[in-house]
Amino acid sequence: MRINEEKNKCWNLENITLGTCYYPEHWDSTLWRDDLKRMKEHGIQVIRIAEFAWNKFEPREGEFNIGWFDPFMKIAEEENISVIFCTPTATPPAWMTEKYPEILNADAQGNLYRHGMRRHYNYTSGKYWELSRRLIHKLAVHYCSYSNVIGWQLDNEINCEIAEFYGESDHKAFRNYMKVKFETLDNLNDKMGTTFWNQTYTDWEEIHLRRHTLRGFNNPHMELEAKRFISYAAYMFLKMQADAIRPYLKNGQFITTNGIFPNVDYQKLVPEVLDFITYDNYPNFSYGLDANPRKEGDLKDRNSSFNLARVRSISPVFGIMEQQSGPGGWNQSMLQPMPKPGQMRLWTMQAIAHGADYIGYFRWRTCGYGTEIYWHGLNDYSNEPNRRLEELKFIYEDTKRLNKADLAGARCQARYAVLRDYDNDWDGAEDKMYGPLADKSMDGWFRAFQNNHIPFDFYYWRDETSAKDLEQYDVLIYPHPAILTKERADILREYMEEGGCVIFGSRTGYKDEYGRCPMRPMPGFAGELCGVHVKDYTLLGPDDDMEYVVWDGESVEALWFNDILEPTEGGEILGVFKNNYYDGEPALIRKHVGNGWGYYFGGGFSENAANVFIRKLGMKSVPYLKNVPKEVETVLRSKTIMIQKDGTEVVRNYLFLLNYTKEEKQVELDRELEDILHDEKVNGCVKINGYGVRCLVWEEM
Ligand code: GAL
Repeated sequence: MRINEEKNKCWNLENITLGTCYYPEHWDSTLWRDDLKRMKEHGIQVIRIAEFAWNKFEPREGEFNIGWFDPFMKIAEEENISVIFCTPTATPPAWMTEKYPEILNADAQGNLYRHGMRRHYNYTSGKYWELSRRLIHKLAVHYCSYSNVIGWQLDNEINCEIAEFYGESDHKAFRNYMKVKFETLDNLNDKMGTTFWNQTYTDWEEIHLRRHTLRGFNNPHMELEAKRFISYAAYMFLKMQADAIRPYLKNGQFITTNGIFPNVDYQKLVPEVLDFITYDNYPNFSYGLDANPRKEGDLKDRNSSFNLARVRSISPVFGIMEQQSGPGGWNQSMLQPMPKPGQMRLWTMQAIAHGADYIGYFRWRTCGYGTEIYWHGLNDYSNEPNRRLEELKFIYEDTKRLNKADLAGARCQARYAVLRDYDNDWDGAEDKMYGPLADKSMDGWFRAFQNNHIPFDFYYWRDETSAKDLEQYDVLIYPHPAILTKERADILREYMEEGGCVIFGSRTGYKDEYGRCPMRPMPGFAGELCGVHVKDYTLLGPDDDMEYVVWDGESVEALWFNDILEPTEGGEILGVFKNNYYDGEPALIRKHVGNGWGYYFGGGFSENAANVFIRKLGMKSVPYLKNVPKEVETVLRSKTIMIQKDGTEVVRNYLFLLNYTKEEKQVELDRELEDILHDEKVNGCVKINGYGVRCLVWEEM
């Protein structure tokens, strides 16, 4: 296996497994058994329950009915359905928010978020910790002993809906966090640059998260610390929950949470608090009316592939806790079209292709009341048979075929990775110089990799990341790490010395870990790695937008922000700028470091720029494929399989071809492979139906 398993924990299922989200509390108990029976007929073996059910367990303060789910659990046990049980902290009950308003989150002006939505609490209120821990402890004691409980989901979608916290307890906890981190006010004042605009603190009590400020602005270094603090607070809140459950876990029960959202360091949560991560996958947001959709034919549907690559960087093999199975719609927003025939299956296979071994559909039945009244599940309001349930039967048959070929546990394969880290993600969210640039470049590389059918990973730095961890990749793209510490630059040098190649873009290395710009030559610690000095730089205005670079006579876009370069020791000029006041000045420099290379490109990476790098560096697509249309995605999973009793091993490869359009598409193969979804051998010109999927398998020694 490629990755150190301890750091990248996985969901170790023996088979690709289907599940659904079920809400016994929404339905008359006379429906329960019939629902579970029908689930089984459609291949569903697992349900997730109870994530919003605090009221059922504690209808009034201190009055417990912990066994409220017992009658349901008994039926689930009889029907042989496995259960993922949840802690219900995402929706505190009305009696609590009324009596203890200190548990509520607030906006920066201090206005409390009141009852009526969800996730309106904060992670730091002592009272919320006390009430949550008390309930979770009781739930763990009670429900861990069920033989069909396979694991726990903590809370629901941590930091979804809101990823900022300004309750009174948050200000206080932030103050303590800053005290522990900086120890003295002098140190804090220095690191936070408070001399500027007379922000110097003279007493710890003066320290707050952002409050009502003019134009909503705040000291940028404090804002970066605030994000680190929110991640820490979320970590501590989930750790408190996991600690309350862990002593009672039985028979390999796991602890996870669902979704990835801003201001959370998931690489720390897994493995320290969670056994693995699960993701909530709603591809229709790429089509939806109000969620920033991609344009028709413009990698539609692939937002999910982008996100799933991120999920994989946390847990290489994971589960989908919520997979879209109907159109979305809240009473006031997010209205989406119905998945077309075939799309539900396509989206399921997309998740599986990217490393999901569990697919839990959201939700079994559409709820006829509440905020999510228009958010459809597998069953409609009527509970009558429908097209989506029919499609689920096909999906179930597909999973049987995948299981026959032993897919579960196979890891996605990629020789190239985009390197990311939370310091730059979070500082970049505030820094308008490189934050938007980083987003655009990420999109440029994503499009280029997708359209060239080159599998890639995101790799997130962990505290303990070493050059050895990085060596699984031939090329690392680190687009715009404004914050690049000496320690990380040293790890990259080691990686390069061993033959690795790193590509940096403009704005690299000009900040320190507090987001300040120290007095030193740019690009900081990347300078020596690439033999480069940045002697001038500029944001490109509307008149500069067609800026380009000439590399071996070829034009390359160098959009959005230009670093104008000069070579230092070992630096070799590969390309020069055209079209601006720095016409003819170096734009691309590389350096040989040990057996590897460092490239510095003085621009952002549009798809065009990324394409040129892909070509010049000879980055490769998956084997045996020729002429794959852009509308078809290719994803490769592989695993080592013992084929004979004598211990002979082979690597089995599973190549998924996903057609995201309604029209039939064709690819060309240059050897015979087995399509395990259609149970046929294919070679040469291979057709993929509209919204169709193929999974081609081959083995190698
Ligand atoms: C998810 C959430 C579910 C449900 C779903 C559809 O974000 O976890 O509880 O709300 O979206 O809106």
